[in-house]
Amino acid sequence: MTQSFPSAARSSAPSTSLWSPLAGRPGRRLCLSVLAACAAGCILPPEAKPLAPAGGKRLADAEVRPLREAAAPTKRHIGFAAQPAQLRDDAFRKVAAAHFDSLTPENQMKWETVEPQPGQFAFQAAEPLLAFAAENHMRVRGHTLVWHSQLAPWVKRLSGEALHAAMLGHIQGVVGHWKGRVAQWDVVNEALADGPSGRLRADSPFTALGPTFIDDAFRAAHQADPDAQLFYNDYEIEGVGTAKSDAAFALVKRLREAGVPVHGVGLQMHVDPRRWPAAERIRANIARFAALGVLVELTEMDVAVGEIAGSIEQKLDRQRTLTHDIVAACLAVDGCSGITFWGLTDRYSWLNSPRWGALRGQLPHYPLPFDADYRAKPMVAGILDALAGR
Ligand code: XIL
Repeated sequence: MTQSFPSAARSSAPSTSLWSPLAGRPGRRLCLSVLAACAAGCILPPEAKPLAPAGGKRLADAEVRPLREAAAPTKRHIGFAAQPAQLRDDAFRKVAAAHFDSLTPENQMKWETVEPQPGQFAFQAAEPLLAFAAENHMRVRGHTLVWHSQLAPWVKRLSGEALHAAMLGHIQGVVGHWKGRVAQWDVVNEALADGPSGRLRADSPFTALGPTFIDDAFRAAHQADPDAQLFYNDYEIEGVGTAKSDAAFALVKRLREAGVPVHGVGLQMHVDPRRWPAAERIRANIARFAALGVLVELTEMDVAVGEIAGSIEQKLDRQRTLTHDIVAACLAVDGCSGITFWGLTDRYSWLNSPRWGALRGQLPHYPLPFDADYRAKPMVAGILDALAGR
């Protein structure tokens, strides 16, 4: 399998865009300051530009059992990532509340947002999401503490002991602030390099601290909230049989053996149908992680259909099957405790932006369970079938 996220493209990612056309609102809103200075919901990233619904089949209302209700007997969480501005939309809130019992702030807990200046924390952007989660009895996944991307610029200028201290201070400040409100943290995100090297990525400033920066990050998070479940999260580590997934396995095994408080592994699961491991490889991978005594969650699932051949019906049908088989792989292993989609409606997906979507080939990708009008796609039937053991 080749790599689908060129690291250069990802690492040069700018901060979330400072303006965007807002759904249903005329004109552009220009935020003149950095993301963190905007009031919550002030901006939507460019990918939030609404997409017209795809053609193809939709489920009849009677077929659409609430996902969270269907998942409850399986003891799996069903989650979605969201941005505060999306909550202004009543239809969004309704679908979110009906179907999901776990919420991940898509961007609002990232370093550039929560600690834009040294020691100056800004937590307000995520608060509407946390309030919505609490109102609707949802678990919150915190995303993410230590990551090379969407990092505050001041951190990139540090090295050595100063960078190490900044990392510990950040973790303590953020995890401490939301102690008891965030059930799981992606403590370290995407530390591993693409390709066969099995090494830490060269374009992260944290790599220069040596591999034990990861140990230190988990220890600091555990100290700040001993009840939080702490995850290592990465992409293209989903299936057995690649150097990167072996490197992730070796990393988590080493951490466990060293007594580091790591409780889970997040497989991002941004499915690229052109090159994706078969569900059996994903199941085997989940099983080997679970055998280390850690939880496994699918943390950012979406299924891009742009490169699937055929009509829109055929694309969405293939999306349904891919989704079904991956959800079933999670259900086949006891330690797989949750499935989070990276959004819930095709109306808002990071893959709608040419920048990110192009990494998965031709747009549009229609990557999420509900269409741009919030109607359930065949993908929802795939999830429901898998949850019911069909
Ligand atoms: C993405 C967001 O969805 C976009 O809004 C943002 O512009 C870039 O980041 N892996 C991750 C997520 O861990 O944080 C990324 O989220 C998608 C890839």
